[in-house]
Amino acid sequence: MKITAQQIKSMKGKGRIAMLTAYDYSTAKVMDEAGIEIVLVGDSLGMVVLGYDTTQKVTMNDMVRHTGAVSRGIKKSHVVADLPYGSYGNKEDAARNAKLLIEAGADSVKTEKMPEVTKAIIDAGIPVMGHIGLTPQTITNFRVQGKDEEAANSILEQAKELERAGCYSLILECIPRDLAKKITETVKIPTIGIGAGIDCDGQVLVTPDMLGLFTDFKPKFVKHYAHLSENIKQAVDEYKQEVKERKFPDDAHSFH
Ligand code: KIV
Repeated sequence: MKITAQQIKSMKGKGRIAMLTAYDYSTAKVMDEAGIEIVLVGDSLGMVVLGYDTTQKVTMNDMVRHTGAVSRGIKKSHVVADLPYGSYGNKEDAARNAKLLIEAGADSVKTEKMPEVTKAIIDAGIPVMGHIGLTPQTITNFRVQGKDEEAANSILEQAKELERAGCYSLILECIPRDLAKKITETVKIPTIGIGAGIDCDGQVLVTPDMLGLFTDFKPKFVKHYAHLSENIKQAVDEYKQEVKERKFPDDAHSFH
């Protein structure tokens, strides 16, 4: 049985939620088997898979295709898919495009800020995860958000608004730990932090970041749990060497 948005909502205060991104079938299958509760088909896809310099270039077609691939690898984890930049500018677009992601296999969708259109999606019967703090689709300064009192209050207000709109959980990205703690204590829905400290109800990282596969830059909050780009390079070097030296394929890897 898949984990529902309602079940995630009810996990508040009952242990931490582990969430990671995936963009393809094989990685999604590993996440599911590892018991990751939420798998995000993030529009970070644009940067870590498609090689763009911004998430803004990700299209609905991209998201539908990758959401399908991820959902085919998952039996239990909750799959949430990002609505990409420009796909939820008004209530009609928002509800229509959210429905397309659900049809592609997502269990819920994620928006960045935008409480009114978020409510329209929820009113159409689709669960939504909100996203505040550093919101990559619209932000121009990629620094910690909410550092002064006014900015911190504004982010706290956004959290309350998205809770009132009916979000089942909230991503808090790149904000001071104390602010994330205050938001987590204020709202009744689970907060999932990325660069928001230890006090959130759960954590998320971009998988190619935490696996050391995407190495163009490394935000302070990213911890490398593996060094895949080095491992892949070693394997590719070894393969290349064996091909050049006529060692591969050997008898064990040939048909007789
Ligand atoms: O697109 C994404 O991967 C995200 C995470 C950073 C939360 O939105």
